[in-house]
Amino acid sequence: MTALPLPSPVPQSIVTRVGLVFGGRSGEHDVSIRSARTIADALSTGTNRQRYRLVPHYITRGGRWLVGDGATAALSDTLPDEPDDHLPRLPTTAHQVDVWFPVLHGPNGEDGTIQGLFTLLDQPFVGTGVLGAAVGMDKQAMKAAFATAGLPQVTHVCATASALARPDELADNVEQRLGYPCFVKPANLGSSLGISKAGDREALLAGLRAAARLDDRLVIEAAVPARELECAVLGYGHPDASVVGEILYDSEWYDYATKYSPGRSSLVIPASVPRVIHDQVQCLAVQATQAVGADGLSRVDFFYQEDGQVLYVNEINTMPGFTSQSMYPLLWQASGVPVEELVHRLIGFAQARHQRRTLISAH
Ligand SMILES: Nc1ncnc2c1ncn2[C@@H]1O[C@H](COP(=O)(O)OP(=O)(O)O)[C@@H](O)[C@H]1O
Ligand SMILES: [Mg+2]
Repeated sequence: MTALPLPSPVPQSIVTRVGLVFGGRSGEHDVSIRSARTIADALSTGTNRQRYRLVPHYITRGGRWLVGDGATAALSDTLPDEPDDHLPRLPTTAHQVDVWFPVLHGPNGEDGTIQGLFTLLDQPFVGTGVLGAAVGMDKQAMKAAFATAGLPQVTHVCATASALARPDELADNVEQRLGYPCFVKPANLGSSLGISKAGDREALLAGLRAAARLDDRLVIEAAVPARELECAVLGYGHPDASVVGEILYDSEWYDYATKYSPGRSSLVIPASVPRVIHDQVQCLAVQATQAVGADGLSRVDFFYQEDGQVLYVNEINTMPGFTSQSMYPLLWQASGVPVEELVHRLIGFAQARHQRRTLISAH
């Protein structure tokens, strides 16, 4: 009997198929599209062109997943109409993707939701896992994690929307602990949405009511007159911190209109601060990332009071803006990591983390 010929080895694909997920149901839909364009360009440039094949997934404002032509059009410049047929609300394309790159900001994208989906699919994905995303997103949980890690923060009060049933009690508490001016924030938004600055009780209660229409969890903070510094963190296990940048803007505080109106804010990279402050920001940025259990990428934002050289950690963003004008990629560029290399490293971290998880769960 003659031996059957051995099957020839299946050629292993050296091209990694990247499921770039963008758009989404949050108020930051448009920023997400712009971030996705930067990432798509970076994945199709230089050596990355041989390494990666893009599989765009566009999530409409209504929450439908579009792949193929609709997604490609959204990535170039034409947003497709909201489909009225029964398109899936979840991806059916997992077999076409080797690694996911969700670039969704705010609720459903940066809060552990989509990270949970990819975890259930058992596929690698860029950015932090469920825990880091969820803790980093909720300002109450984030502040609790920072406090446990001993990180410096502004004085704050946490409240629930239901506390507004007894408004005077809530206002008394805020006045006793913080005084005015103070900032009122919904715990789970972003882009300054729903945030207001209050100078008296009337403005405080109006701000709380407005924030309570957007979220059940609220945070009130003492306002600090301070410069705003930002630091980018990258890595898995022992992350690195970038050079430090500063945001300058022409309004009283960095509100939504200022953030998204061209010409009203600018970035200074590196920030002009004493070396010791620069180093301290880098160190605190890594600690803040570890405090919430985040990995992959994050941007940590600070308040810096020049008088007395005091630093406070303001917040962590585990899927920071990634447009060509955004602080996150620009900080890395200034630190010697161009955007093509940045996305390549992020995908590498995603794959390394997935391998490690697979190894751990095998034991
Ligand atoms: N305690 C504070 N003191 C001074 N300014 C603040 C304070 N909290 C928020 N701000 C201003 O509001 C902006 C948005 O607040 P932030 O907590 O960063 O919300 P978001 O997550 O929406 O970016 C900050 O960049 C800053 O300009
Ligand atoms: Mg912010």
